[in-house]
Amino acid sequence: MKVTVSAPGKITLLGEHAVVYGKPALVSAINRRLYVAVEGRSDSAIRVSALDLHIPGLILTFKEGSKDYLIETDYDRIVDAMAYVRKAIEISSKHLASKSGVNVTIRSEMPVGAGLGTSAAIAVGTISAYTRLLGHDLDPEEIARLGHMTELSVQGAASPMDTAISTMGGTLFIRPTSGKPKIEKLRLGVGLPAVVGYTERESRTSDLLKRVKVLRESTPKVVDSIMGTIGYAVEEGKDALLRGDLEVLGRLMNVNHGLLEALGVSSKRLNDMVYSSRSAGALGSKMTGAGGGGCMVALCPGREDKVEIAIRVVGGEPFRAALSGDGVRMESAEK
Ligand code: MEV
Repeated sequence: MKVTVSAPGKITLLGEHAVVYGKPALVSAINRRLYVAVEGRSDSAIRVSALDLHIPGLILTFKEGSKDYLIETDYDRIVDAMAYVRKAIEISSKHLASKSGVNVTIRSEMPVGAGLGTSAAIAVGTISAYTRLLGHDLDPEEIARLGHMTELSVQGAASPMDTAISTMGGTLFIRPTSGKPKIEKLRLGVGLPAVVGYTERESRTSDLLKRVKVLRESTPKVVDSIMGTIGYAVEEGKDALLRGDLEVLGRLMNVNHGLLEALGVSSKRLNDMVYSSRSAGALGSKMTGAGGGGCMVALCPGREDKVEIAIRVVGGEPFRAALSGDGVRMESAEK
């Protein structure tokens, strides 16, 4: 039996990092998906193949006047992705008290490990497909909870945000609590035309989470007040979104980017894309996700073409994203 599911990537409109410290966040699924196919095996092994992950495999640097060259690979990110698959299977097997050897195949329509929530999509997709293969139909809340456990275990720290949006889709206002997170699915009266800019990632999520933690330990009042302000931006952003006021939402995205920059998680390349999109007429733009390179998002109704060019001019790779896509969904089940 082979089960294929897909799970969406996401854009954090407002609130990443602060959400790890209990502040709310506003997050939307996007129309780029990651596909996980799980097929039973007769033995107990787990075999994972990853295709189309948009990970450059090899970088060669030649030095002028020398025969020496430097080989760099980006296989670390593939290994990172595999860690989520393995942990998701382990946690699901424990939860169901049942297990099976499997072949897992992953395909992605977006760059993996670039701030679009692909590790959550891998975790949620694997849990959903694997538990179906074992004959169980978990409810979305359970899938999101196991997904969050997977991220926590692989990364050391994680909010429930990425796994909740990948499971439920749409646009969510999410407030972590010590128990079940409070999640509100927002009904939007407006579309959110956005352009995403991608640049190579320089740091891992776990390192960026650590960077913020260390900063907070050394300057707790300053960091807590930044987190508090991000929380207010999220609350005001939610109201703006619900009344369809994209101008105010855009302004809050700009404020949020400044605060993330203050936390030390942005990068020169991300900033270049953020500022060039604003010059091209975006209502708001910010980095999205953990940072350290990766992706930014520009809210730019009617200015998408200009913003795409502006991102390209500073060396980024733009793509359009329709926000508010479906959550995890079954694609096929073959005998
Ligand atoms: C990563 O997409 C978002 C962070 O806030 C981490 C998390 O919420 O788990 C940086």
